Amino acid sequence: MFKSKIAGIGKYLPANVVTNNDLLKYMETSDEWIQERTGIQERRYAHRTNETTTTMGVEAAKVAIERAGTTPQDIDFIIFATLSPDYYFPGCGVLLQRAMKMKEIGALDIRNQCSGFVYAMSVADQFIKTGMYKNILVVGAEKHSFGLDFSTRGRNVSVIFGDGAGAVVLQPTEKENQGILSTHLHSDGNSAEILAMYNPGTHANHWSEQKLASFDEAEIGQMFFSHAMIDDGQVFPNMDGPAVFKVAVEKFPAVIKEALEANQRTTADINLLIPHQANLRISQFVQKKLQLRDDQVYNNIMRYGNTTAASVPIALCEAWENGKVKDGDLVCLAAFGSGFTWGSVLLNW
Ligand code: ACO
Repeated sequence: MFKSKIAGIGKYLPANVVTNNDLLKYMETSDEWIQERTGIQERRYAHRTNETTTTMGVEAAKVAIERAGTTPQDIDFIIFATLSPDYYFPGCGVLLQRAMKMKEIGALDIRNQCSGFVYAMSVADQFIKTGMYKNILVVGAEKHSFGLDFSTRGRNVSVIFGDGAGAVVLQPTEKENQGILSTHLHSDGNSAEILAMYNPGTHANHWSEQKLASFDEAEIGQMFFSHAMIDDGQVFPNMDGPAVFKVAVEKFPAVIKEALEANQRTTADINLLIPHQANLRISQFVQKKLQLRDDQVYNNIMRYGNTTAASVPIALCEAWENGKVKDGDLVCLAAFGSGFTWGSVLLNW
């Protein structure tokens, strides 16, 4: 059986840098508050009209495909992870396929928020291992700046997120010291609403029973998305930050240890851990708990904020470009996020 190797990696960050102080134009916050709680100094926001989640994914994919020594026509499967798609449907995978003039290959969108890229890598790995596909494009991309509450009401969430994209091309390898060793996926839906964007959706718990009873069929058709939802600010992400923190610092180390134990490795063997860039405080907590040195953990949330499904490939790409990942290195990718869902990928570069 084959293993999957990352044959090429790319990233795309929009040019528009937004500092913490820039956010003061819209909400009551401070550079000090944001840096102290999250480590973030600045993030990138996509161009309002010219850049979408898909276009950023395309830019990252172009680099990954070229670095893999392939062309868009060689790609035989697309997996696109995002929580901020261009359209509610269809997904970004087909839009990328069209933009890159790819063949009539399968395109799968993954809705696993912060752990979307790790889930996507795991799915791609299964297809490569069985020999079904030979050049899978895996993309993580987000345009958060279009869906955040920039008033003071939404500041606990909006200061955290940024835009960007990362992509890899996975190919089969038979080399001894190269490729994905294992992937580990988990979920616990009991806390689904702790970190969630409820609308538009088919649930109706934003209306009272009394109000629901007064709707006729035609009005019910409008419940998916209504003026009232917008007026009430029910169209933005919700997060109970302290509750997320509590679970994240438990699940992150556990899923990293799980990957190491499955391959008879220890934390000392890790050359580089790429944690999902949720919050610098979470990464530091995980590092401490696993007793990892600074040079074993890569963080760039300071410059890009939390880019959810894009954060792991952007960080991995940047680390590789900076010479921090070399052939044969043991690299662990780990993510935790909304759902809750979490997972890890252990690989030799
Ligand atoms: N600027 C200034 N003040 C703020 C801001 C802001 N941007 N946001 C919230 N506050 C205020 C609140 O209004 C509140 O004020 P009050 O005490 O007068 O009522 C106070 O700060 C504390 O609010 P909390 O929401 O409890 O903020 P907390 O101290 O928990 O910090 C944070 C928020 C940073 C999100 C924290 O909960 C955390 O680190 N959570 C971990 C989860 C996380 O990082 N999620 C990121 C995305 S999810 C993921 O990727 C997995």
